[in-house]
Amino acid sequence: MKILVLNGPNISRLDIRDSKHYGNLNWSQLQNFINEVAKDLSLEIDIRQSDDEATMIGWLHEAADNSFPVIINPAAFTHYSVAIHDAVEMVKSPVIEVHLSNPMSREEFRHTSVISGVAVGTIAGFGPDSYRLALIAMKNLISR
Ligand code: DQA
Repeated sequence: MKILVLNGPNISRLDIRDSKHYGNLNWSQLQNFINEVAKDLSLEIDIRQSDDEATMIGWLHEAADNSFPVIINPAAFTHYSVAIHDAVEMVKSPVIEVHLSNPMSREEFRHTSVISGVAVGTIAGFGPDSYRLALIAMKNLISR
């Protein structure tokens, strides 16, 4: 069963984002890391990134239509997109929210996630390992 690993705005520009929050891997290296973890866990994944809300919603519709489990880093959409919340809510397979940084230890506007309430759970603050932990959790969820 294919797992979609969806990433929101600016995640493709980790090369120029603040390494204090996001670590030292660029987007291509992060994708390699996630692909390696998935391979070790024998999971089939499809990593995608978009800065565009409509594209992200389209991918969530695809997940809903095909019963794809989803690991999503909604990036800035996390904090305000009711449209992404509604689209995640339509996905009946497990959805796990991930963040590289820990939004709760950052600016107050990051303390609200409109996604967490419709995700199975949230993993945040472990850098690339947030994705590793999410893949491990997802493997357990889908092999039940
Ligand atoms: C992020 C945290 C968000 O607050 C931020 O807008 C991002 C990345 C993370 O992975 O730590 O773009 O989702």
